[in-house]
Amino acid sequence: SHFKVGAALLFGDGTTISGCNVENASYGISLCAERNAMTTAITAGAVKPLAAASAGERGRACPPCGACRQFLAEFNIDMEIILEDGDNMKFYKLSELLPACFSHGSMEGE
Ligand code: THU
Repeated sequence: SHFKVGAALLFGDGTTISGCNVENASYGISLCAERNAMTTAITAGAVKPLAAASAGERGRACPPCGACRQFLAEFNIDMEIILEDGDNMKFYKLSELLPACFSHGSMEGE
């Protein structure tokens, strides 16, 4: 698509770790910015982001896709999601963007 996305994760010690989307000629294996940032963070030993910010190159809000919401939820479903939207910022909780999500608890028996 050549649509550029950047994501940054904020951690409790003030560290931020960022990622960009990485596209491929085999479209389906393209990687989103948010998941790229999260896996980079894990490599650095940072596993519980307090907030995730995403921005697309066109200035309008670029919300994390469903797969990224699910991926990030595993690390902190209470994290804040921050979106740049023109001259404004939008703030959400990941839990409100992914209600009734599937989690490890969904696989537990009685
Ligand atoms: N993209 C992201 O990086 N994050 C999202 O959550 C939504 C979509 C990327 C994937 C692809 O490279 C481009 O935006 C268009 O879908």
